[in-house]
Amino acid sequence: MRDVLISPSILSADFAKLGEEIRAIDEAGADMIHVDVMDGHFVPNLTFGPPVIEKLRPHSKKPFDVHLMMSPVDPFIEDFAKAGADILTVHPEAGPHIHRTLQAIRAAGMKPGVAINPGTPADVVDPIIDDIDMILVMSVNPGFGGQSFIESQLRKIEMFRRKIDETGRDIILEVDGGLNPATAPRAIDAGVSAIVAGSAVFRGGPGEYAGNIAALRGGASN
Ligand code: DX5
Ligand code: ZN
Repeated sequence: MRDVLISPSILSADFAKLGEEIRAIDEAGADMIHVDVMDGHFVPNLTFGPPVIEKLRPHSKKPFDVHLMMSPVDPFIEDFAKAGADILTVHPEAGPHIHRTLQAIRAAGMKPGVAINPGTPADVVDPIIDDIDMILVMSVNPGFGGQSFIESQLRKIEMFRRKIDETGRDIILEVDGGLNPATAPRAIDAGVSAIVAGSAVFRGGPGEYAGNIAALRGGASN
């Protein structure tokens, strides 16, 4: 069984002390930092953008796994690169030219990812699979933390695992939404290599982060 990467979503962190929270999850064993950017238009919620990410960047050396729930994306790609994003993931519905957007992300020095909503079919990745370094499977409808895992996405994860293995490339298969110690092992069995978790990591405060992260890895060790 592959080692699963854990990418805590800072959407569930205390926004009044984001730098401190990032240091705490880094020390608690996070492999990446998942940063949810929401624009109040593509999704019905608002978070923050490149200036905040730039200020957070010095608080961890781990990759910043930046999930853009915004439209349009293209005018802001350079700003996210300058802010220090390592992986920049976009929804195909965010603009009319997904291939161009992925090329622009790569050209700006970041790894391009594609996020797939629960209602979006898996084959949307087929024409672009050679251009991406991550598939982010949404197991909730994007916009909010603390929602319930949508079971039907497990079959889609299995489909993506097959598609990725066929390429022979090391594309990260990440799942996002409703992950906890009960649902994570099922996603791992279906083939994910990375897990995003917000509420399941941040619950209980900093003293619990290491245990919470370890509990999510549980399913990967047997
Ligand atoms: C949802 C975000 C997620 C969210 C996950 O739109 O993309 O990253 O923070 O939160 P939990 O783990 O609480 O479902
Ligand atoms: Zn996310």
